[in-house]
Amino acid sequence: MNASDTPHAPVPRLPVFDVRAHDRAIAAEIDAAIRRTVAQGWFVLGPEVERFEAEFAAFLGGGFVVGVASGTDALALALAVAGVGAGDTVLTVPNTAVPTASAISAVGARPVFVDIDPATGLIDPSGIDAAVRPDTRAVIPVHLYGRAVPLAPIREAARRHGLVVVEDTAQAHGARWQGRAAGTAGDFGCFSFYPSKNLGAYGDGGAVWTADAATAEALRRRRNYGQTERYVHDSVGVNSRLDELQAAILRVKLRHLPAWNERRRELAARYRRLLAPLPLTLPAEAAAEEHVHHLFTVRVKERDRVRAALEARGIQTQIHYPIPIHLQGAYRDLGYSRGAFPQAERWCDETLSLPFSPVLGENDLQRVAHALAEALR
Ligand SMILES: Cc1ncc(COP(=O)(O)O)c(C=O)c1O
Repeated sequence: MNASDTPHAPVPRLPVFDVRAHDRAIAAEIDAAIRRTVAQGWFVLGPEVERFEAEFAAFLGGGFVVGVASGTDALALALAVAGVGAGDTVLTVPNTAVPTASAISAVGARPVFVDIDPATGLIDPSGIDAAVRPDTRAVIPVHLYGRAVPLAPIREAARRHGLVVVEDTAQAHGARWQGRAAGTAGDFGCFSFYPSKNLGAYGDGGAVWTADAATAEALRRRRNYGQTERYVHDSVGVNSRLDELQAAILRVKLRHLPAWNERRRELAARYRRLLAPLPLTLPAEAAAEEHVHHLFTVRVKERDRVRAALEARGIQTQIHYPIPIHLQGAYRDLGYSRGAFPQAERWCDETLSLPFSPVLGENDLQRVAHALAEALR
């Protein structure tokens, strides 16, 4: 008798995201891409990166894509090429991943926060005018959890104040707002290909989108030590390159991304129906194309107790993110204290990310809904 024959075989743990399960169906395609790249013997800034950049730009509806080493670098390179640096401030939200702020710090600028719309978790554009200071140069709207930020009011405010719009699209590959891909409605769109993202590499990776050919060239120089031609450097740069193996893997996955995003939408709709009767707050509804459901999050009071109850039933949850950035030790010198951004603070106190991935099935969702119902009884 083996373990699976026992009458009470343990229920497998349900993780928030499992990259091996996610990619099982395309393992052969990925293996072939890796083998092809190794056989080419070209590992940095070669044909795979070039092709991926063109294919990802086409997926986004045109413009130029520059592959870089991470989503954080994508943001920092965009800010640097836009001329943001020491002495400047950049607006963003407190409930985003810390790297949004790390990128601002990386160019020597300082983040200034704007509170969020409590229905969506996205930047509240009505807070921008009050937050802008004489030294503010840019605004970074974050397409949090895969939901496209309505960009028109942001662009309008940016125009009023002369700000560059750098979209943090790390979580929203393929989301659209009013027909435009998230990441392509501002001046720069910054993507992460961290393995758990909707489009994830097998390591770090990122990309910057721009509509402008000269800006794309400036990004290409900057990611490669400021090099214009071999060993000729007219500007200062860094080493932040997407490597060939990651690009080859991303090219395979990009072909599947539309179907995966569609499946995420179906599962999110199903979760909503299963969870509707429970005493928790579901994310505000979004039009289908606006949301690619990178995460499925709910808001619950007594979150830590509910988390522990789910964990005891083998259901992993995560918190994106538990500490708003203005209250992180690293940003103490900005001088904010609790109460500065009440909506973002409540968001961070209550948000809970449930298991979510295109490979989940009805049984998985029902298991989570059942465990949540028990925990909230
Ligand atoms: C909203 C957001 N911004 C920026 C990043 C940074 O991306 P990376 O981890 O690729 O540097 C991430 C991912 O971690 C993210 O979720």
